[in-house]
Amino acid sequence: MASKVDVKLLFEPSSVAIFGASPDKDKIGYKILDNIVSGGYAGKIYPINPKGGEVFGLRIFKSLDEVEGDVDMAVISIPAKFVFDAVKACAAKGVKHVPIITSGFSEIGNGEEERKIVQYATERGMRILGPNIFGVYSSAAKLNATFGPKNVVPGGVSIITQSGALGIAMIGKSAVENVGLSSVVSMGNKADIDEADLLDYLAGNEETKIVLMYVEGVHHGEKLIAALREFSKKKPVVVIKSGRSKRGAMAAASHTGSLAGSDDIFEAVMRQCGAMRAETLKDAFNWCKFISYSSQPKGENAVIVTNGGGIGVMATDACEKHGVRLYDDQQVLRQAFGKVTPEFGSTKNPIDLTGQATPTFYDDALQAGIDGKDIDAVIGLYCETAVFDPEELRKMIAKAYEKYAAAGKPVVFSIVGGQKVETCITTLSKDGIPIFPEVYEAVSCLGAAYTHRKRAAEAEEPMAESEIDVKAIEAVVAKARSEKRFFLLSNEAAEVMRAAGISLPQSHVAKSLEEAVAHAKQTGFPVVMKVVSKDIIHKSDVGGVALDLDDEREVVDAYQAIMQSCRAHKPDAVIEGIQVDEMVKEGTEIIVGARRDKGFGPVVMCGLGGIYVEVMKDVAFRAFPLSRKEAMSMIKEIKTYQLLLGARGEARKDIEGVIETLIKLGTIIKRCRDISDIEVNPVMVYESGKGVKAVDVRILLSKQEAS
Ligand code: ACO
Repeated sequence: MASKVDVKLLFEPSSVAIFGASPDKDKIGYKILDNIVSGGYAGKIYPINPKGGEVFGLRIFKSLDEVEGDVDMAVISIPAKFVFDAVKACAAKGVKHVPIITSGFSEIGNGEEERKIVQYATERGMRILGPNIFGVYSSAAKLNATFGPKNVVPGGVSIITQSGALGIAMIGKSAVENVGLSSVVSMGNKADIDEADLLDYLAGNEETKIVLMYVEGVHHGEKLIAALREFSKKKPVVVIKSGRSKRGAMAAASHTGSLAGSDDIFEAVMRQCGAMRAETLKDAFNWCKFISYSSQPKGENAVIVTNGGGIGVMATDACEKHGVRLYDDQQVLRQAFGKVTPEFGSTKNPIDLTGQATPTFYDDALQAGIDGKDIDAVIGLYCETAVFDPEELRKMIAKAYEKYAAAGKPVVFSIVGGQKVETCITTLSKDGIPIFPEVYEAVSCLGAAYTHRKRAAEAEEPMAESEIDVKAIEAVVAKARSEKRFFLLSNEAAEVMRAAGISLPQSHVAKSLEEAVAHAKQTGFPVVMKVVSKDIIHKSDVGGVALDLDDEREVVDAYQAIMQSCRAHKPDAVIEGIQVDEMVKEGTEIIVGARRDKGFGPVVMCGLGGIYVEVMKDVAFRAFPLSRKEAMSMIKEIKTYQLLLGARGEARKDIEGVIETLIKLGTIIKRCRDISDIEVNPVMVYESGKGVKAVDVRILLSKQEAS
């Protein structure tokens, strides 16, 4: 299919038609037109309504074909049953973008009509936004084609939202918080245009400094991952996602599934793509405001200036939590702050000016922060004292902020106290100064800036993929499908592992005592022997298993003992042979898995393995493909990573072997669409260079055959 038209004209149309534009003030069509006209849109406006007439001094066209000029965009706000015909009229007119305000499509089960509209539009090179949306605002075109608030303050934040009501609320909140917006797009049912399309445009949009995205569900995860990875290299993106529920996970079929609350995967994938996840709207707005209005750090060294020890320690904790590095060259700090700190204070970062600090102390210390060549960011803290009046505090902070802005250095403030201090926060905050009542809020803003800084500086790593024998895997799957199975038997799973080059414990089936001895010798002692019979399910119960056989004589004895015992317990069982397995040497047990996630496509998982895997839930996830560096960061995320490094004087384990296994499993899921879940638990990890072994492998097939 040809690639779809980009969304530029959705943000920068030269002309806009409004289906359902009405002189009736209660109609959504009226409100949208009102917002477009009063927002100062400079392009051509064509109200469309079969009743004709005039509104806001504009002629109402009875149909789109009456309009003479080109129409770039047509907003549709008419009942659902008329929408398809309106879309047809748009296609005939050559309209490129159609935001559909109307509800009553897939969100209420009417997906068929929605698909019909999108297919029709796509085939004619048109793009649909929505349906079920409140519209689109773009400061580049001074276009407010929404039925949200009227006076949107232009600025650097773009909001992409799946929720309509929350989107409208966010426009309102942005005005209260004095956060200027460059665009707002309501995506509604995301039948065509989605986050990825919008991010592609916003990456190059000069007005947009940062994107705030509200997501409920992901439809085309692999496309979103690609767009986010690209976007976050250039500009920061803050994501809010609702639905941290574990319900979805409970329904999942495998460990990998049940360990992965869908939210865990979302969280991991966002981090992998360089997006910053905010838990609350407050954090999201704070970060957006700070990043779009304040200078950004040029280096890693942050300094805390405070008049209170306690609040200084809180800020230190917050710095650790939010990844803000505190500068600790004591000599430089003493040089920079020694002169401005009382003798009984501290220059050890936090710079403690003590409770006797007056505005002059702060002026001098904050100036030293500007002058310090090695100081890249400052966190200014204040606890209310009687030695200066909050009015002086307000002036001092406003002056300091101005100086920092002129110097191109970031500063954030947190001040704590009574009513006058609170008023000071409200007043300064309105002027765009990053000032908060909570230390953690102030530090989290700097943390967000640093997260983006790191992401932008990351070198592009190649994606890792392994050579696997896809044909051999497909043959195994085809056999299982022919038997109407949705899982592979253990010997089939082993075949898949071999086709991917994953090392397994050796295993052979012996048909005679001589063969058993030969297999044991070839495998190397010790070995394990198990009866092979479809009629014997619980092998141990009938004496069908012998462990830890150290030599030929023990193998002979075990063979005879197994045969005798099985015949005695199950005289009519058909015994196909005796399996001679390598006795797996002890190693560090981990779990490695891969599955096809409904939202994001292939994902890989690894964690602490063994029987307590579900209790411990010490696992990490990533979308696949991934780079080796990302695979490593995933392994490091596991709390028990220390075991792989070699705890209690043990040697470092073969972490490279774990990475290889992860990549191989991911490649199987990516290339063999019939396989939905693979889980290897345990994978035995040996010392560095000695490899890993997949001991127990489970593979599930997708419920639908891949086409
Ligand atoms: N072309 C142009 N105009 C037309 C056409 C047509 N083919 N057919 C009808 N119209 C006109 C009508 O004449 C009417 O004009 P009038 O006011 O002069 O009589 C106007 O379109 C509106 O039609 P109504 O039948 O009055 O429909 P109404 O405005 O009540 O509802 C709407 C239309 C708003 C699209 C409604 O169907 C709907 O979907 N509402 C929900 C919208 C929504 O909530 N979207 C999600 C937002 S996100 C959030 O949650 C906040």
